[in-house]
Amino acid sequence: MKALCYFTFFLSPFLALGVLYFLYVRLLRVKLRWQALVFALLAIAVGKSLWFSIFGDHMFYPDIASEVVVDAIGCAYSYAMLLAGLALIPPYRWRGRGVVLPVVALLLMVWGSYEALRVPDVVRREIVLPGLPRSFDGLRVAQISDIHCSPAARRHYVADIVETVNALKPDLICITGDFVDGPPSLRYDDLAPLKDLKAPLGVLGCAGNHEFYSNYALWRPIFESWGIRMLDNAHVAFTNGNDVIVVGGVLDKTGTQYRKWDGKSRNGSGGDPAGPLPEDPEMPEFACFDAPDPAVAFSNAPPSTCRILLQHRPINLYTNALNGVNLQLSGHTHGAPLWGTGPLIAAMNEGHAVGLHREEGLSLYVTPGAGQWVGFPIRLGVPSEIALLTLRR
Ligand SMILES: [Fe+2]
Repeated sequence: MKALCYFTFFLSPFLALGVLYFLYVRLLRVKLRWQALVFALLAIAVGKSLWFSIFGDHMFYPDIASEVVVDAIGCAYSYAMLLAGLALIPPYRWRGRGVVLPVVALLLMVWGSYEALRVPDVVRREIVLPGLPRSFDGLRVAQISDIHCSPAARRHYVADIVETVNALKPDLICITGDFVDGPPSLRYDDLAPLKDLKAPLGVLGCAGNHEFYSNYALWRPIFESWGIRMLDNAHVAFTNGNDVIVVGGVLDKTGTQYRKWDGKSRNGSGGDPAGPLPEDPEMPEFACFDAPDPAVAFSNAPPSTCRILLQHRPINLYTNALNGVNLQLSGHTHGAPLWGTGPLIAAMNEGHAVGLHREEGLSLYVTPGAGQWVGFPIRLGVPSEIALLTLRR
């Protein structure tokens, strides 16, 4: 996984530039100086992470005031990467290639960026859970995931999602991780509309990997103060007469690399640049967040024929089933947001990229998520969504 991250963010721009040079720019039937100009512009576009680092202090959550500038950098990057992808398609020497490829890349970029940045549609699904107690039949659960509040998805975007969810009048709201990119010092106001989420059974959440990159130790108490009950290897039970359902949540495994008190990893990255919490002298030097553990999450839970688990990643179905989970709600994959990447994303997540799966005796729903990460700001073929799940016996 780490190797894939390095490939994506450090090697892929160089690889794309190589493809663009040899399979597109060099084959253009124009003078050398025009070729040089085109290549220079593409090199600037591919350098998104560098520009975010230089002008925004961080490659993943740049502190850039203008949403337009962030979106423009993201669109330029997407355009260059799409052009590189198209340039791989043979034949390489037909005459109209120099014009057709950039036009197709532009159309795809406009469409994909619009899909990535727009407020998601509501997708309604029914999920049959044979163990669901009779009085909970028809329970409506709104699942939102992967909002990725960032310089490209600010307060108005989060507020629109909140308004859409509240209008559905769900019984329960579940947020399955990746709320935000950036520490509270940068993103507090943008994410604050989440405190307006309302449902009779409340708002529950579990941490995604990006929470730890964004200093979960600081975000967690903020989420709780907003009325979002964070299930860090914990559960909550809902009763209706003799009927009981239990909803648990687990931490993301990324947390095992991040210290609890200031979010800094062992190698020192991932902290809040605006001011980490003071170190707790009582805490061992490398006390990190716990690993995801469904057994701990459901320990001392009341007897129930229905256990629901919030887990950011759509994995560990076998272990979760052994712990009595009937329904697992996950996100993380973004639904494999580029055509053709489904098998790769599924391979990285134990075969699950998007949608409803029934395995190991449990049901898994993987939502494509409500937002898109600023590091890869494009969606082609898999729209974002707010899921409204109606549970049936
Ligand atoms: Fe995500």
